[in-house]
Parts: sequence; C-alpha cells; structure tokens
Amino acid sequence: MTQIPLEADAQSVEASLAELAGFVDDTQEGWTRQVFSDPYRASREFVAGKMRDAGLEVTLDGGGNVVGRLPGRASAAGLSLKPIMTGSHTDTVRGGGRFDGIVGVLGAIEAVAAMRRSGVALNRDLYVVDFLGEEPNEFGISCVGSRSLAGVLLPEHLDMPGTSGQSMGRTLEAVGLDPQAALDNAWGRNSLHAYIELHIEQGPLLERSGHEIGVVTAIAGIDRLMARFIGRADHAGATPMDARLDALGAAASAVLTIEREGCGAPVHGVATTGRIESYPGSFNVVPSEARLWAELRSTDQGWLSGAKGRLAREIGLEADRRGVSHMIEWLTDQDAVPTAPAIRDLVARSADRLGFSWAPVPSGAGHDAAHMVHLGPMGMIFIPSTGGRSHCPEEFTPTADIVRGIQVLAETLAELDRTDSLAA
Ligand code: HGY
Ligand code: MN
Ligand code: MN
Repeated sequence: MTQIPLEADAQSVEASLAELAGFVDDTQEGWTRQVFSDPYRASREFVAGKMRDAGLEVTLDGGGNVVGRLPGRASAAGLSLKPIMTGSHTDTVRGGGRFDGIVGVLGAIEAVAAMRRSGVALNRDLYVVDFLGEEPNEFGISCVGSRSLAGVLLPEHLDMPGTSGQSMGRTLEAVGLDPQAALDNAWGRNSLHAYIELHIEQGPLLERSGHEIGVVTAIAGIDRLMARFIGRADHAGATPMDARLDALGAAASAVLTIEREGCGAPVHGVATTGRIESYPGSFNVVPSEARLWAELRSTDQGWLSGAKGRLAREIGLEADRRGVSHMIEWLTDQDAVPTAPAIRDLVARSADRLGFSWAPVPSGAGHDAAHMVHLGPMGMIFIPSTGGRSHCPEEFTPTADIVRGIQVLAETLAELDRTDSLAA
C-alpha cells in the first residue's frame, strides 16, 4: 500500500471535467467531440496542458495519441524497467456524454498529480495516454490511436472510405498526421509491464450490485457488419404485395433477426442495428435498395463466432424468399479479451485497502484496453454509471465515485510498480 491513501483533489477533477466538456460541437445535442473535428483538436491541447501541469513530459505520437511520461526512479538511475501505461480517450459519440473515456484520461492525470503531491515516486516510467479516436468513426474503425500503438492498425484501415468518400488516411493527413507514421508507431509486443484503464461502466450492473468499484473480468468482442439489399423499384400503389422485390422489407426483417440473435445470447451477448437507409425513400415507390449497419458483442467468443454464421444464414434465407439479392460485409472483428488475473487481484486488493466495495463485472463496451493487451498484461477499473446510461446526454457519474476510481487507480499503479511478476 502507498504510505498514505492518496487523496484525489475532487474540485480539481470537477473543474477539469467541466472545462473539457466545453470543447464540443454545439450544433449537436449533448456533448459531441468527434475525432478529426475542430472541438476535438482544440481539446487535446487542453489535455496536453493538464498533463504538463501534473509534471508529465508530453508528446504527440505517430498514431495521434497525446502521450504523457512520468520518468521512474529506475530511468533516473540508468536502469531500464518495462513501463506501466494508463489512459483512455476523450472523443465522444455524437450526442454523447461527459464521462465516457474522459474519466480515464483526466483521472489518470489527477492520479499522477496526487502521487506527486504525496511524494510517491514510482520505480518504473509511467505513461498516461489520451488515445486518438476510440469511438467508431465514419470509416467504421474504432480505437485508431490504440490500434496504432499496439501495432494492429492496418493499411486497409487507412484505405477505408468515409461517408464523404475520402479515405481515413487522407483524413489523418488533413488533421496533420502522417498515415505511414501511424502504421509505424507500434510498441513492441510485451513491451509494457502493465496497462490499466479507469472507465465508467456504461451499463447498469455495478449500480444494481450496490458496489462502488468494478473489477473488469473481460472486454466484449465486437463484430460489426454492413448488409446491403437490392430489390426492384415499383409503383407502391399498383404493385400487388406478392409481386414486389422490397429491399427495405428484407432489411427490416434482418433487423429483427439480428435482435433475436442478441436475445439468445449466453452470459453476456447483445446485437444492435444502429442505422438503416433505403432508396429512393419515397412514399409511393417500393424501395429498390436498403443498407443496414449492425454489431454483435459478447464476452463469450464461442457464441460470437457462432452468431456471425447464424445471422448470415438467416438473413440470406429471408432475402432469397423475397427475391431480394443481398451482401454482408463484416467491417471489424475484435475478439473478446479477458483481463489479466494478476491485475484483477491487484485492483480488488487496492479497493479492499481503501475500504471500497467491489464486484467483478464484464465490459459490454469496447475499450482501447482491448488493443493494449498486445503490449502486456491488461486490467480495467469501473465506476458506476447512474441509471446505467451512457453514449447519451444523460450519461452521469457523481464526483465522489470518480474520486474513488482515481484513488483505486493510483493505489493500483503503485502496487503494479512494486509487483515484479504479473504472469497469469
Ligand atoms: O462502442 C463502444 O463500446 C465504446 O464505447 N466505444
Ligand atoms: Mn464510448
Ligand atoms: Mn469509452
């Protein structure tokens, strides 16, 4: 245990959260700060300034990540120990909230400030990272910065066309980043002693359990798809129902098939169609084309893999029955990732020592942490989401809960620093 329980400065955390919440696209409801946008770009200067205020050496890496470094005693003594990393993201979904990802970045900065205030010096270097673009963007790619740092950002990701037709690579260039540098930004496999991330749960489990801290057991795998249906335009008034090739009818049936698949999942599995489009979109024309974008998630990799096959089969059968041709494009397939047992134990022991109640919780949400597992043992700390709400303006977590999360993070960082082996 650190000599004294580190006290996070609640006022400073609240002020930082409020200030960061000011960097938004105010043409949208809620808090919108999407990657590659002007409010996002401006907000990262703010985050970099907060990192510097906490005594971190700040750089912008090739993957567009804002990286703060706190040298450890070993570096000062010329020794090289594998570093510890923590962080999260500050971009939001459209119409999002003020806490998703943000508490993991500002909380980590406050944890560093608390350690410095208390004279707690780590042996290992500590990196605090604000990862670029964790939320899925117009190119269908999430976690751009952490993929880059983990060495799993691929050339085909950069070639993905956005809704404007411009590729993600061109968009990186447009915001001053070098796509090749993003591909060359990888840290070595197992180059980290540990990665730990503080995050809001974004669901109702922790609040329902009445516990203060979530020890994350696994991060759900995510498979995203785009399905396209090609029917035939006909007069909506004069064409009998049994003579139609209705593309939107086939897509609507697919939406319900996807929902049914999610409801049949084991421990944790969900399926969501987030968007549907049809053409020509007139009252009096049978839709000739429709597209939908959906995702499947589960911490159970077996169910997730099986669900992809079942969906492809059932959507195909229904489209064939309607005489509508279709294609399914799988956009991303991110496997379920368990957290490191040794880090789960350290988080639980830190919460115990601080007198906070905790419970094991799966993460239905995806996180940068799922990619950082390539660099070393990974863990996550959850704090409750009020009403289980997130990705909406109602997203809320009381400051007292955030401060508890920061204290557990700081305690865990100090414990990780003292623990040589984190092998399973
Ligand atoms: O979509 C997610 O799960 C994360 O919030 N980006
Ligand atoms: Mn999110
Ligand atoms: Mn997040």
